[in-house]
Amino acid sequence: MLKIIKSAGKKKSIIAVFTVALLLLFLVSASAYKVMVENNNLKGAYPYKKFESASKCRTCHPGIYEQWSQSMMSQAYTHHWDEIEYFDLAEAHADAVPAIRDVIDGCNGCHTPLAFMNGKFPPARPSEKTMANESVSCEVCHLIQSSTSEPPVNFSYFIEPGMTKFAGRNPSVESPAHKIVVKDIFRTTEFCGNCHNEKNPFGVWVKSTQLEWKEGPYATQGVPCQDCHMPRGHYLNAIMGKPYDDARLHLFHGAHDPGKVRGTVEVRIEPDVREAEPGETVKFTVALFNAKTGHKFPTGSVEDRILWLNVEATDSKGKVYHLNVDKKGFDGEEYTISGDYLAYQDMGIPKKINDFKGVQRDGIPAGNRIFRMPYFDPEGRMTIMQWNTAKLGVDYRIGPRETKTEKFTFRIPANVSPGQMKVTATLNYQLLVKPVADFLNVPEEESAIIVVNDHTTFISILP
Ligand code: HEC
Ligand code: HEC
Ligand code: HEC
Ligand code: HEC
Ligand code: HEC
Repeated sequence: MLKIIKSAGKKKSIIAVFTVALLLLFLVSASAYKVMVENNNLKGAYPYKKFESASKCRTCHPGIYEQWSQSMMSQAYTHHWDEIEYFDLAEAHADAVPAIRDVIDGCNGCHTPLAFMNGKFPPARPSEKTMANESVSCEVCHLIQSSTSEPPVNFSYFIEPGMTKFAGRNPSVESPAHKIVVKDIFRTTEFCGNCHNEKNPFGVWVKSTQLEWKEGPYATQGVPCQDCHMPRGHYLNAIMGKPYDDARLHLFHGAHDPGKVRGTVEVRIEPDVREAEPGETVKFTVALFNAKTGHKFPTGSVEDRILWLNVEATDSKGKVYHLNVDKKGFDGEEYTISGDYLAYQDMGIPKKINDFKGVQRDGIPAGNRIFRMPYFDPEGRMTIMQWNTAKLGVDYRIGPRETKTEKFTFRIPANVSPGQMKVTATLNYQLLVKPVADFLNVPEEESAIIVVNDHTTFISILP
């Protein structure tokens, strides 16, 4: 190819370079596309009647059923925000842009695998109570035999329906309802990675929880997802069996369990001096230590989540002052400090609003540090539509066992009351950025503020 370019005239070489570039672009986009649809051999492969409902498993596994039914995986298709995003944004986007139809059908490969295999798109709405509502059910996970991809990504599980179920260990008593075959994959993170890693049609890793885990300290120490989301405890697996001391509890608690989120990151704040006069400057340092997650925080639906640090000083008369975080000067930092910006304009496409101006990017007080990774649409605007993400921005999330430090330089105001000043650092979390939740009428609980942690220090203000 090089030889051709060299021997050809200037015009010809430009054409050749252009052709090569086009070919490369085609190859890159074609391979990204292949990843997105790689497990489409299961699309429409089996009708609903080939599968058993979780309510059947419930008759002999009532405890595990109740645990699972309180987790998000039992609601992956029916939960209000999932229904809104799938039908009002993703489906509506595919109606406007038919080329992404296959990608949108793919949502179901993770959120309702039985409906994906049943092959009717979109599946019936949750209110119609079809088997699509099984979401990520017992049957889905316990029919998984292997992963068809390394790393696992985009519903790369291999499933065959039948009376043989797969598990991590042999049962102590025979089951009258099914055969059990042990598969090592149940003890691995690849099992979860089949759905917890996602690459979109632009070739962007829009979800990489299992990959983040793999890079972190828990992989080295052999602590899989199961150890934190399915902890072992004394429990009766099936009514006709005996309790195990190390039964796997099907809690799957995550970002939707405030108790799981609380305390995830530990927060400490200290001043550089303990006494100051009005007009003097005090520098506060906040240390944030991620003690609890096995991946970054936030992970998964990173495009939706917002985690931010708010620091406030209260003087002896109760007057409150908000402190702004000191800039560090890294690339893309503007996305990690809250302010008055409009974003998410691409929601205008599915919502059929011409020249949509967007909604507030952050919806929190200005000048706070945000721990996030922004997602950008093909026009470079921030988006929460992960399938429409052409590029990721700066990754300023907190890694597993990572400690971040933030500084707040505070010039004591002239009118401050002398005496003890209290300074509190609070780390807040929202599942969904509030202005987006409000715009799409997502129920309030999805944008409620969860306090992850806080810490208070004191300084003396001299008269
Ligand atoms: C008629 C009762 C019955 C029904 C219905 C039933 N199971 Fe079981 N299952 C059992 C018994 C008994 C065991 C063995 C429990 C033990 O090891 O103590 C078992 C074990 C298992 C195991 C392996 C656990 C282990 O200890 O190794 C899995 C996985 C499992 N069942 C999944 C399912 C799924 C999925 C369904 C629904 C599609 C289902 N079961 C329906 C009775 C039942
Ligand atoms: C998201 C996937 C997933 C779902 C959904 C799920 N399981 Fe499991 N289940 C697992 C994994 C993984 C293990 C094995 C963990 C191990 O061996 O370390 C397991 C283990 C079990 C066991 C054996 C427990 C033990 O102590 O080893 C039983 C019984 C079981 N599951 C039944 C069910 C039933 C019944 C449901 C539905 C109510 C269900 N599972 C839903 C992933 C799942
Ligand atoms: C068949 C696909 C699939 C598999 C396999 C799977 N998950 Fe999930 N998981 C999902 C989907 C989809 C959701 C999102 C539910 C929702 O819509 O909020 C989810 C949600 C979760 C959540 C809840 C997050 C929250 O916001 O509270 C946790 C925790 C979780 N999964 C852990 C696991 C673990 C651990 C494994 C492996 C043992 C696993 N998952 C395997 C598809 C899967
Ligand atoms: C050391 C414990 C630990 C391990 C290991 C771990 N997690 Fe988590 N995970 C947590 C904690 C704590 C949270 C709650 C804070 C949060 O939302 O990130 C969480 C949250 C989540 C969430 C919700 C995140 C969000 O922001 O919506 C998902 C999904 C999840 N985990 C999946 C996994 C998967 C998949 C693995 C394995 C690849 C895994 N976790 C390994 C502790 C762990
Ligand atoms: C590769 C599997 C996979 C695909 C494909 C996928 N999702 Fe998800 N989705 C997940 C997992 C896993 C989570 C949970 C992550 C977390 O808890 O942070 C999730 C979370 C979500 C949430 C947030 C749930 C909540 O309650 O916070 C919405 C909404 C959602 N997905 C919609 C979609 C739509 C729409 C599509 C298709 C354009 C899609 N998903 C494609 C796996 C997938």
